[in-house]
Amino acid sequence: MNILIIGSGGREHAFAWKISQSPKTEKLFIAPGNAGTSEFGTNLEINISDFQAIRKAVLDNQIGMVVVGPEVPLVEGIHDFFLADELLKGIPVIGPVSSGARLEGSKDFAKEFMFRHHIPTASYFSVTSNNLEQGLDFLKGLNAPYVLKADGLAAGKGVLIVEDLSETEQALREMLGGMFGKSSETVVIEEFLSGIECSVFALTDGKNYKILPVAKDYKRIGEGDTGLNTGGMGAVSPVSFADELFMKKVEERIIVPTVKGLQHEGIDYKGFIFFGLISVNSDPFVIEYNVRMGDPETEAVILRIKSDLVDLFEGVANGDLSERELVIDPEFAVTVMLVAGGYPGDYKKGDIISNFDKVEGSILFHSGTKISGSGIITNGGRVIAVSSKARNLKEALKQSYYNASKIQFENVYFRKDIGFDL
Ligand code: AMP
Ligand code: GLY
Repeated sequence: MNILIIGSGGREHAFAWKISQSPKTEKLFIAPGNAGTSEFGTNLEINISDFQAIRKAVLDNQIGMVVVGPEVPLVEGIHDFFLADELLKGIPVIGPVSSGARLEGSKDFAKEFMFRHHIPTASYFSVTSNNLEQGLDFLKGLNAPYVLKADGLAAGKGVLIVEDLSETEQALREMLGGMFGKSSETVVIEEFLSGIECSVFALTDGKNYKILPVAKDYKRIGEGDTGLNTGGMGAVSPVSFADELFMKKVEERIIVPTVKGLQHEGIDYKGFIFFGLISVNSDPFVIEYNVRMGDPETEAVILRIKSDLVDLFEGVANGDLSERELVIDPEFAVTVMLVAGGYPGDYKKGDIISNFDKVEGSILFHSGTKISGSGIITNGGRVIAVSSKARNLKEALKQSYYNASKIQFENVYFRKDIGFDL
């Protein structure tokens, strides 16, 4: 079967690496892909939101399955677009229909969903300019710090955590006034939860599910979890505090009610569910849902999946996921992200990356790279995820750090403390 992956980051490179190993894969295409994905398939210069261009590419290349990496096309309804098209409707799309993608596309919907299905999460109140006074009253009843979330997609930037009440009120007014455009016309005010976070992933066919390896990502730019938020500076899997007992609670209290809740609400959800969790005194609470795999978590998690991912995806498409096998490697996987100097603020693109040939014992998943006449150049803030697997966390980290220090481009930066807290 020919397979098309949508997206251009480290997650999609990791998918391409894994999918290309399946005996079920004939030709692989990635739209738009990056320098790394081109090693495993054909990159197609297509915008991820241009469904007509994707349609044409699917028909021209006799694609038999589409794997959607990022959230934007899912929230915009790519799966619904396929279902509504005579020629495309039989082609499986791995990723939910837009009604399911609301779990990520609308924080207000996600919170209501969790309350409807008794899934543990922070208490909240949703505000628009029409009920601002009630929102301010709710805020006054909370303890600092205060959490404000833009309802819609905001490229990972829509969450503000503010210490001071009057600054929070000011920020709330600014959000409603268009700080994140339409995405913050509704703002979710949340109770602040204190604990340690992890990322749990499930793959579901709408009824059955498989739990993938748990991971922890490191979101802040600076060591010791300081400084600005980024897309993610590294990840490790497994996560020591997410032990068997914790994961049992996650499954019973969160995964099962989520999958059943979707079914109950008539949402035929086929794809990944990413549970952003926080452990509060060893009890899991949902911080957020995403409707895709995490990045950079995928660049670690994928190394621990021994089974054929395409076979699992066929299980998702056919509704017989329970009959497919998921074997997880007990070893430790980590990834360390190399970023461009200045990121997550302004940074340069187009710098030559060198020393690929000096890397041994790690896999480089490209996040933001491009092939140019002069070689492989930087093409994003997050540039390369250096992924390794070993018997223990320390060895896996040692391996990634050894190789991270080999790769060179101007002003390369990476955190030296991934996994420091575990
Ligand atoms: P999100 O975009 O929803 O993942 O939020 C970004 C980050 O804000 C999360 O990874 C948490 O670190 C933090 N956060 C979000 N909601 C809460 C909350 N209710 N309590 C504490 N921290 C939160
Ligand atoms: N690493 C967090 C995310 O993918 O949203």
